[in-house]
Amino acid sequence: MSNKWFETVAQARQQAKKRLPKSVYAALIGGTEAGVSLRDNVSAFEELGLRPITAGQIAEPKMAVTVMGQRCAMPVIVSPTGVQAVHPQGEVALAQAANSRGTPIGLSAFSSKPIEEVVAANPQTFFQVYWAGDRDFMLKCLERAANAGAAGLIVTLDWSFSHGRDWGSPHIPQSLTAKEVLPHSFEIVTKLPWCWSWLRAGALPRLQVPNFAAAGEPEPRFFEAYGTWLNTPPPTWDDVRWLRSQWEGPFMVKGISRADEARHAIAAGATAISVSNHGGNNLDSAVAPIRVLPEIADAVGGEVEILLDGGVRRGSDVVKACALGADAVLIGRALLWGLAANGAVGVENVLDIFHTGIKATLRGIGKENIAQVGVQDVVVPPGFYPPPCG
Ligand SMILES: Cc1cc2nc3c(=O)[nH]c(=O)nc-3n(C[C@H](O)[C@H](O)[C@H](O)COP(=O)(O)O)c2cc1C
Repeated sequence: MSNKWFETVAQARQQAKKRLPKSVYAALIGGTEAGVSLRDNVSAFEELGLRPITAGQIAEPKMAVTVMGQRCAMPVIVSPTGVQAVHPQGEVALAQAANSRGTPIGLSAFSSKPIEEVVAANPQTFFQVYWAGDRDFMLKCLERAANAGAAGLIVTLDWSFSHGRDWGSPHIPQSLTAKEVLPHSFEIVTKLPWCWSWLRAGALPRLQVPNFAAAGEPEPRFFEAYGTWLNTPPPTWDDVRWLRSQWEGPFMVKGISRADEARHAIAAGATAISVSNHGGNNLDSAVAPIRVLPEIADAVGGEVEILLDGGVRRGSDVVKACALGADAVLIGRALLWGLAANGAVGVENVLDIFHTGIKATLRGIGKENIAQVGVQDVVVPPGFYPPPCG
């Protein structure tokens, strides 16, 4: 067993910390402002209890599900994230690892690898877009994703450009000029294995976002693309309906925190939603998704596939989310820590941790199949849910 092997997500995070330059690692752990949502995403799962059984456990519980038309070996999907400087293989490594474990991947519009390479590594790729640029530009990006073979579209709508971080945002260089890179030289030279991985790959961290361009057009840099997005008027539900009409196949709206919004998404044609606060990266104090999941599942369950993302760190968290109404979860940071620690093998390691954890939890609570878990399997403390809204 490689000495990079880890047995929990917390260990993957420790290894990522050791390996990555400080500012790259900081981008993977922080939340916005005081980090209230980020902390609560995780601690809300810790507040939920389970009621184990003793004799009569099921040795091999089943956990495969189908989400957005894709068979998933477990109710876990890679969440879309931009991972510019984490690892030279970036999203291709995430895609390969997910493919080897029978899991789809969400590919961010701000990813560092072209969608064509990612779909080649994992045909179960969902392309994620923001509402950015004009309709012609969005159509070209959708056309490129469809031609590449994307299996579904995710539109993330919760971002509201809340940038500040109380601990200071990590600096993202505009370009790799000496002037931009020199202030980072100390943190870089102290991370030799990370530097060596880039040297071996014959590459430098990419600041371009190749999927933020039509096929064959020049790749914009991160800040150029971000500027386009920042200057795009926010979409209405009519805009979302239009976007949906331009995409054949499964269509997810990511970033829902309220039942009335879930209904709007369904009316606009969504086939799936993700209950999400962007992993605590956007509006701080946005409610932890697991706290509002049952309210949303009660309102729209059966009409749309329901996913959750934010704070999932263990197999038992996945089971808790499914018990409270999710069909599956999306996972962001835990997989990025695996990627940072050991590339595709590290991502497989994290996916295996989730698989083993889901299995142990189902076994422990005596379920033959993930489809059988329900609210009766979870101990919810008083005051866990906020008053319903919408
Ligand atoms: C470094 C980083 C980059 C992210 N980039 C995106 C993105 O490009 N698109 C998107 O929809 N969500 C993005 N997210 C949010 C994730 O998709 C997901 O909602 C969140 O990470 C889930 O929370 P978790 O990290 O606790 O699993 C990003 C999150 C992180 C940590």
